[in-house]
Amino acid sequence: MRSKAKLAALAAALLAVVALAQTGEDARWHQRRERMVEQTIARPRDFRDPVRDPRVIEAIRAIPRHEFVPPGLREQAYDDNPLPIGHGQTISQPYIVAMMTELVEPKPGDRVLEVGTGSGYQAAVLSPLVKEVYTIEIIEPLGVAARVRLDRLGYRNVEVRIGDGYYGWPDKAPFDAIIVTAWATHVPPPLIAQLKPGGRMIIPVGSFAFHQNLVVVHKGKDNRDLRMDSVMPVRFVPLLGGPESQPK
Ligand SMILES: C[S@@+](CC[C@H](N)C(=O)[O-])C[C@H]1O[C@@H](n2cnc3c(N)ncnc32)[C@H](O)[C@@H]1O
Repeated sequence: MRSKAKLAALAAALLAVVALAQTGEDARWHQRRERMVEQTIARPRDFRDPVRDPRVIEAIRAIPRHEFVPPGLREQAYDDNPLPIGHGQTISQPYIVAMMTELVEPKPGDRVLEVGTGSGYQAAVLSPLVKEVYTIEIIEPLGVAARVRLDRLGYRNVEVRIGDGYYGWPDKAPFDAIIVTAWATHVPPPLIAQLKPGGRMIIPVGSFAFHQNLVVVHKGKDNRDLRMDSVMPVRFVPLLGGPESQPK
């Protein structure tokens, strides 16, 4: 009986040590995330415009980006750089994720489509800001891994589908907003059609890999009533799939 009690006390002590180590670890990531938000997103130290939407800043502050990068790159998770996630793809730079999220003007009741799930980080950032997130990934192992990760981390309003996002997600359309996280030669007409009147789309567009601009598309009353604003030069991986005119 006494040895049972001793064992229980030992187990409790061990659990307490593990919990303490975990708290220390969390605090370390939290500190890094705070620094990233302060120095590169809310108050960039260079010429870039700051991200101003407090809801977006709060979301970036809360999402554990280190959970979305390969284990060997965790120490770099809060640097303002894109990082490789396998299959020749990348998780986008935190500043660009924050800026794209702000530009798409997420609202609590919105249904949002993301094309290019990648690691799932952008979908996780959108999750607390809108009602529903639908995200499509063309590379199956990436999409499956992102689905498992988002599920494990508790992002319940995000649905991941494997498929060609050039054609959108007709069953879940129309969307209040669409974010495309890969470079296209043109704005895909199926995505315009799946955007609600008054909706916003953000997409990197360009004729060449070295000449891409982030474009905000505002849809008016129908598919022909579009306003396109070029916001800033960017460098994204190409949108795969789609018709022949897409970059390969
Ligand atoms: C820059 S990465 C996206 C990063 C991602 N948003 C994140 O937060 O990690 C671009 C992603 O788009 C995917 N992609 C490219 N073409 C696609 C398509 N036609 N449909 C769906 N996903 C596509 C790539 O496989 C890649 O994972």
